[in-house]
Amino acid sequence: MLLYRKNRRTKALCIDIVRAGLRLQRINRQAQWNKLYHSAFFYNYFRFFKQKSQLLTDPHLGIIMWTSILYIKVAFNFSMEKNTIVIASDHGAFELKEKLIARLEKLGYQTVDMGTHSAESVDYPDYATKVARAVSEKEYERGILLCGTGIGMSIAANKWPGVRAATVYDNYTARMSRMHNNSNILVIGGRTTGEETAYDILETWLNTSFEGGRHDKRIQKISDLETKENNSAGKEVK
Ligand code: RB5
Repeated sequence: MLLYRKNRRTKALCIDIVRAGLRLQRINRQAQWNKLYHSAFFYNYFRFFKQKSQLLTDPHLGIIMWTSILYIKVAFNFSMEKNTIVIASDHGAFELKEKLIARLEKLGYQTVDMGTHSAESVDYPDYATKVARAVSEKEYERGILLCGTGIGMSIAANKWPGVRAATVYDNYTARMSRMHNNSNILVIGGRTTGEETAYDILETWLNTSFEGGRHDKRIQKISDLETKENNSAGKEVK
């Protein structure tokens, strides 16, 4: 009887955990709700275990508890990382950066603002490096860089392995940079792009997926350029 009750409780707990995990992933696009939801969820979760404190001494349920905490942590990290955009600008686009951060948050994304934090003159390669390094080292999946024209930022960012930074000026180039080039850093010029166009570009870029297929091979050739001995680009062309 005790075993039966225990199994029922275990089953219910497992269902609860799976549901929680799925829910965490579903709210992927609602980062603003994330903090609120998670704090409420964890509060209830730990209250439940505290109430049933004998569970802590039961090895069977103890394992389930710790595994589930691990599972939730993974789901949480997954949803946070996917939803987080790392962003930086120089003085030439400081104002646009602030506006894009506000827009991103309105759209449900988390942002990591790597500066600059004023309109005082700075060197764009320093800020390109902050975002490009984070994307190159897979700390974040996608980033945004802004300078006067967007050109300096993309030149600097593209020195980092695995970075595909694209300077775009309109919806079409934003869409193509995702569909064909799988760009992982969006670059916009603060002095060349109007506010409304920048918002359009941002949403298009965020919502467009890489097409893959024939473009996979081309992206691979770009990656090969990063390791000289494995460089395949140009070999088939006479
Ligand atoms: C800064 O004056 C300007 O050179 C920079 O923002 C950017 O346009 C470089 O490409």
